[in-house]
Amino acid sequence: MELGGYSGAMSDDDELDVELEARLEEAEEFEPPEAFVEQANVTDESIYEEFEENWPDAWERAADLLDWDEDYDQVLDDSEAPFYEWFTGGSLNASANCVDRHLDERGDEPAIEWVGELGEERTYTYEELHREVNEFAAVLREQGVEEDDVVTMYMPMIPELPIAMLACARIGAPHAVVFAGFSADALATRMNAADSEHLITCDGYYRRGDALEHLDKAEEGLEQVDQAVDTIVVDRLEDDFDHELGPNQSDYHDLLADQEGAEVEPVERDAEDMLFLMYTSGTTGKPKGVKHTTGGYLAYTAWTSHAVLDIKSEDTYWCSADIGWITGHSYIVYGPLALGTTSVMYEGTPDYPEKDRMWEIVDDHDVTQLYTAPTAIRAFMKWGQEYPDKHDLSSLRLLGTVGEPINPRAWKWYYKHIGNESCPVVDTWWQTETGGMMITTLPAVKNMKPGSAGPPLPGIDARIVDESGNEVDAGRAGYLTVNNPWPGMLRTLYKNDERFISEYWNEYSDPDEDEWIYFPEDGAKIDEDGYITVLGRVDDVINVSGHRLGTMEIESAIVGVSGVAEAAVVGGDHEMKGEAVYTYVITEDGYEGDEDLRQEIIESVEDSIGPIARPEAVVFTHELPKTRSGKIMRRLLEDIANGDDLGNTSTLRNPEVVEEIAEKVQGD
Ligand code: PRX
Repeated sequence: MELGGYSGAMSDDDELDVELEARLEEAEEFEPPEAFVEQANVTDESIYEEFEENWPDAWERAADLLDWDEDYDQVLDDSEAPFYEWFTGGSLNASANCVDRHLDERGDEPAIEWVGELGEERTYTYEELHREVNEFAAVLREQGVEEDDVVTMYMPMIPELPIAMLACARIGAPHAVVFAGFSADALATRMNAADSEHLITCDGYYRRGDALEHLDKAEEGLEQVDQAVDTIVVDRLEDDFDHELGPNQSDYHDLLADQEGAEVEPVERDAEDMLFLMYTSGTTGKPKGVKHTTGGYLAYTAWTSHAVLDIKSEDTYWCSADIGWITGHSYIVYGPLALGTTSVMYEGTPDYPEKDRMWEIVDDHDVTQLYTAPTAIRAFMKWGQEYPDKHDLSSLRLLGTVGEPINPRAWKWYYKHIGNESCPVVDTWWQTETGGMMITTLPAVKNMKPGSAGPPLPGIDARIVDESGNEVDAGRAGYLTVNNPWPGMLRTLYKNDERFISEYWNEYSDPDEDEWIYFPEDGAKIDEDGYITVLGRVDDVINVSGHRLGTMEIESAIVGVSGVAEAAVVGGDHEMKGEAVYTYVITEDGYEGDEDLRQEIIESVEDSIGPIARPEAVVFTHELPKTRSGKIMRRLLEDIANGDDLGNTSTLRNPEVVEEIAEKVQGD
């Protein structure tokens, strides 16, 4: 196997250039760049062994990255497994850890460097962040928010979002952030599920230079919320959009002005107290309220930010995710700020005003680490290297990806054209439920293999098994499992312990033996070196541009349209998005599968989930391929969407329908 661990800039010599290009193309493995290794936070390979021999106590090193009000007595309490508890008996406050404790040394240094869509910038030093978090914590108290009340945030990428999150953490009120791109219905479902009586939102935001209305959408959602809700509205658009506040609404900045200079003592929270809830899609139509706690989650995100992202307090680190998803929670807000670094936050899209927007930000801010998604990298590749080439990206030291598999071509493009072959690339596999990264290379320790996330992190026992739970041979596809607990793990599904067990601990665990195995519902394979390549979901969840969508949620939006009798939704391969939403629809008698109905279906999906779930194709058919027992053959519908070989269909109840549907899809 050829090692591609060469470094340095491309030579002017054309011949050498071509040779380097060919080597890069062929290389299957890359060594950590030397200059990176010399300065890295974690450089000693023995850390893997140390975790193995000294598990679970080795996790103390994660807890040691935090300031505790009260020391914990026990690292792991597994007496009620799979309801594991970490750092029990300890207490701390997440906002004090992310803000207050950096004031002495980093008070004048930037905590958040925010870049707006219109090019405007706002910097919050730790001192300024401290002031606004305190004032807003006082506002929340004044509004009657008490410890353990769930506060919902329905906000785009504006600084008031992390400020509100940290203010909640300060007073011990868990937050539940709903992605601003989700629909009014999605907001209502989540607020109802969490019994949340408080909402923080904004009047609107900018997209591609245009002011986008947001408050109407929030209000429309509130109409469907069962409980009375107090709403705080951030005025993001100022003169570009006049809005009037309703009876239960207050203006963020007015409330803040009333609390000028207020200080709120951080509430001492038990390590196991809830820090936040995050709703995510599962197999059934109802989103799952993933519960994360204060001690384990914060220790885990701080540790992985330190060990994988190599964050140091003097860095300017940029994760381009949206805070509305778990990546933004863990690696824009909690992990980086716990380490006292500068976290860059960008409101807008990567191709506005020009396709070099990301590189302009890296250049202007001297970004040291960039953490983004394969879907973005595929777009950068398509736009061409001339955009990154226009800028000085030499400040970059490490690159990361998350959210979906990255193919070796995109990986190498990122490595070469963004990282100049001198930055390690960490391909990080994890989930909303895991709280933080689980499978990836330690960048100064392990070689990188494009297309494979890497070995499990120290302390994580991930395996690839067959249907009966036996480990599969290297190279064979199987199911990913995690065989021991970790501090960042979800503790339960909010108010639904039963579903927590049935979703994650049913498949491979043996409750009689008190043996608990976490099943993330991903397929994967492993190579001889223990490197894991994650192949994708094995449940009815699809991954569109790194966003996780439940096919059942989409199906129920479609069958709600009058004229639709039955619908099946699957993910089909998509060059840019990774996967796209394919819908197969049977109409009721007397209804035509025409353009009007297609539009109604698309609108209904957008209304009930959001534009991210917009179907790529709506295929009308009079039947769906079913097994003899009447189950819809989803695999086959996926193959049809992908134009793949359909194999033997003779065991179906209705094989004749397959060709018919395939022809329609091809014809589209
Ligand atoms: O299928 C895996 C995929 O994204 C799923 C988790 O989605 P979500 O909870 O929204 O969290 C996304 C951000 C952490 C996983 O079950 N996934 C995530 N990272 C990778 C990945 N698939 C392959 N490679 C990755 N690096």
